[in-house]
Amino acid sequence: MMTDNNSYTFFPLFLLVVSFVLSKSINGFSLTAREPVKLSEDKRSIISPDEIFELGLFKATRLSGIDGWYLGIWYKRLPATVVWIANRDHPLSNSTATLKISNTNLFLDDEQSGPPVWKTNLINHINEEPLVAELLDNGNFVLRYSNRKSFLWQSFDYPTDTLLPGMKLGWDRTKNLNKTLTSWASLYDPSSGNYDFEIENWKVSHGLITNTGQPEFRTDLSYSNLVNIAETEEEISHSLNITTNVSSISILQLTSAGALRLTELIGGEKRTLFYFPNDRCDYYNSCGENSYCNTSNNCECMAGFQWGGQYAWGLTKSRQICVRKSQLSCHEKEFKKIRNMKLPDTEYAIVDIKVGLEECEKRCLKNCNCTAFAITDMGNGGSGCVMWTGDLIDLRSYMTEGQDLYVKLPADDLGGKRNINIKPIIGSIIGGLGLLGLVILCYWLVITRNRSKSNSPSITEPPSSDSSKVFEDWGSICMDYDVIATATENFSDSNTLGKGGHGTVYKGQLPDGHKIAVKKMTADSKGGLTGLGNEINLIAKVQHSNLIRLLGSCSTSRPDHNLLVYEYVENSSLDTYIFDTTGQYVLNWEKRFEIIKGIVRGLIYLHQDSRFRIIHLDLKPNNILLDKKMIPKISDFGLAQTLEGNATIGFARTAVGTFGYIAPELRNDNVYSVKSDVYSFGVMLLEIVSGKKNMEFIKNFDGTSLLRIIWDSWSKGEVLEIVDPVLKDSSLSSLQEEEIRRCVQIGLLCVHESPEDRPTMTLVLSLLGKEVDFIDRPKPPAETEWTGIKGEASTSTAPPIGSTMGAR
Ligand SMILES: *[C@@H]1O[C@H](CO)[C@@H](O)[C@H](O)[C@H]1NC(C)=O
Ligand SMILES: *[C@@H]1O[C@H](CO)[C@@H](O)[C@H](O)[C@H]1NC(C)=O
Ligand SMILES: *[C@@H]1O[C@H](CO)[C@@H](O)[C@H](O)[C@H]1NC(C)=O
Ligand SMILES: *[C@@H]1O[C@H](CO)[C@@H](O)[C@H](O)[C@H]1NC(C)=O
Ligand SMILES: *[C@@H]1O[C@H](CO)[C@@H](O)[C@H](O)[C@H]1NC(C)=O
Ligand SMILES: *[C@@H]1O[C@H](CO)[C@@H](O)[C@H](O)[C@H]1NC(C)=O
Repeated sequence: MMTDNNSYTFFPLFLLVVSFVLSKSINGFSLTAREPVKLSEDKRSIISPDEIFELGLFKATRLSGIDGWYLGIWYKRLPATVVWIANRDHPLSNSTATLKISNTNLFLDDEQSGPPVWKTNLINHINEEPLVAELLDNGNFVLRYSNRKSFLWQSFDYPTDTLLPGMKLGWDRTKNLNKTLTSWASLYDPSSGNYDFEIENWKVSHGLITNTGQPEFRTDLSYSNLVNIAETEEEISHSLNITTNVSSISILQLTSAGALRLTELIGGEKRTLFYFPNDRCDYYNSCGENSYCNTSNNCECMAGFQWGGQYAWGLTKSRQICVRKSQLSCHEKEFKKIRNMKLPDTEYAIVDIKVGLEECEKRCLKNCNCTAFAITDMGNGGSGCVMWTGDLIDLRSYMTEGQDLYVKLPADDLGGKRNINIKPIIGSIIGGLGLLGLVILCYWLVITRNRSKSNSPSITEPPSSDSSKVFEDWGSICMDYDVIATATENFSDSNTLGKGGHGTVYKGQLPDGHKIAVKKMTADSKGGLTGLGNEINLIAKVQHSNLIRLLGSCSTSRPDHNLLVYEYVENSSLDTYIFDTTGQYVLNWEKRFEIIKGIVRGLIYLHQDSRFRIIHLDLKPNNILLDKKMIPKISDFGLAQTLEGNATIGFARTAVGTFGYIAPELRNDNVYSVKSDVYSFGVMLLEIVSGKKNMEFIKNFDGTSLLRIIWDSWSKGEVLEIVDPVLKDSSLSSLQEEEIRRCVQIGLLCVHESPEDRPTMTLVLSLLGKEVDFIDRPKPPAETEWTGIKGEASTSTAPPIGSTMGAR
């Protein structure tokens, strides 16, 4: 089509354009005329022949707060569903623009006389034939010669964030185009976001969601079943294996939160048919090499491997790694078959098409480097043998789906298996400390200060009204390295609590008897100091008996002498107790209720009483530490955000938090407010009452969620059915039953879909304390991340742009 390379000569302005019947949309847009088309936001648009899609201008407010206008295509009956944008990174500054055909290209001009805002970059052809541009019923906007069927240009070749049926992603070898999806910057901002969905052809074709270029999720079988994978001389492509008709259209979208969502649009309704990722096991290589994420979302070593050594992971976490129990030699004859696996990443795999199981096994035995093999679909119909050499990367297991993986083992390792569970307390402390990272506590002045006072403030007691003032000063005071070295017995191994991303955490005891947790930074950790500076200041200055306490901060020129001192908390984290199935840690209702109230008080302080309005954004039982009196301390402020000035909402760059606890507005739209914490608190409250993890229901994929089940029981008046059996065994008084009912009702109010419908934490405290008699009846809870999968009908949550868009 575009092979005529000689015709660079400028063709005298050949303006061929399409005209509008006044104030009426044009069906088909196949009319041609010699006038450019004036588009405007509120009047002029182009509609496909069967009125399925519409092309026109719409307005959106960018993250910067500035309005921009965009030439886009949307589903006519759901104007908020924009499927393509011409000028996503070059918005028009006002609501009128001109679309024209000139020099065999399409141009979008604003009212100014500058360069076009957008144009197609086709080589100019000398051709007298008239051109037409039209919007087809499949959502493709095309440019072609009026007497030919083939397209000179089509919007399908330049996807934004949406794959429509008939459209292809991947590599078009003839045009040398790589077609990928790029997310919106936020739900409201169509400019290119951080997430891309690209087709990788690592031997076995799959899709990869990347975040600023780093792999974040690799697709699995559930995705492969949705698409047709074609590998030919002309292309390597993925397209939706779905046919579409006038009344129903399915679109695959890369959401602004970096998830793939297949939505069915029927009339004015949306249904989610597919959503990926589903849980933390879907994170690319979430467990590290030669380890897999099991069905209870924990990491286990592959057969032949065991836990050994640690390495830093991210800023605040450390992870153990799986090492071989004994080296593979060239003579191994044994394989262990592991069922229901997501096969490892195939970037460095060897593929033999049309080779069967037996032959594949033989080849793997013959190749000393081969560590595992599998038989898998090759995309284009056939199946073949895939062999891995070296480390196995990005593995997980499923309950029922998945494929068989054969792992080569030294004979003596067959069957042997050992798992290590890192103690939650260590994880929590490391997490909590790491976020504050890269700081030292300057201690001697504190000591001096305390000595000069008759009653030094106790570290684990609630602060006296004046100690917070004292504390404020600590942030700017330097502390003696040697004092801490002594307190931790020279950072001895026996005092190690765990290793974090940028250092090791030690238990210590100060001369006055106070226990502390000390993080000693590794030498190379200097880099993050400036970035974390604000956060450290922030956390250092909030003080509340229900928040974990940083005891001060300051930096020195010797990075390996940078220390961070934190209050030591005896009793591990809340999840240890409420999700305990061993019967070892029983927490009666009285204690649970006190813990709930403590968390609420901590949150009220964060949300409104501290000098800053702080949103935690990662509330979950693992981040609630319990001291020796079982007083809850909210920890890990790694994701916390402040709201400046009068702002009530903030925008996150990506959806943050932990699956199962992330509020819908944050998950879908990257928007947060104090109500996002209320949602996470609600989930946690229901977990405390039921003793069940919200995440546990992910395994079932049948549309149930903990929230749903509790809602069902509540609406049937059978609340006590879902109460943690441990509690029921302890024969509750009627007063306690009443408290439990109240908690369930409050929990359900907190997990409402719409942030406005959730109570504030202050109201929650009043409700818990029965200061308010009337509690609203809850509505059904928000869908959790994975419950949309089975496609329960849910009405679309139309973003505000919907109302400002619809060009008619
Ligand atoms: C758009 O901008 C042009 C030039 O800046 C101006 O003349 C025109 O009135 C504006 N139109 C609207 C609707 O604001
Ligand atoms: C497209 O991707 C393929 C394979 O990933 C690569 O070889 C090719 O150079 C890319 N083409 C362009 C234009 O980026
Ligand atoms: C496409 O879908 C049809 C019916 O749903 C199914 O029979 C077929 O195997 C699918 N094709 C691919 C390549 O997945
Ligand atoms: C369109 O497709 C939907 C779903 O595939 C189907 O239920 C419906 O009957 C189809 N309608 C027509 C007019 O073909
Ligand atoms: C998953 O791994 C954890 C820790 O290694 C283990 O305790 C648990 O039993 C495993 N779950 C399953 C279903 O295998
Ligand atoms: C095995 O790996 C080594 C080192 O990476 C390489 O030199 C050798 O050629 C490989 N052998 C086979 C059969 O691939």
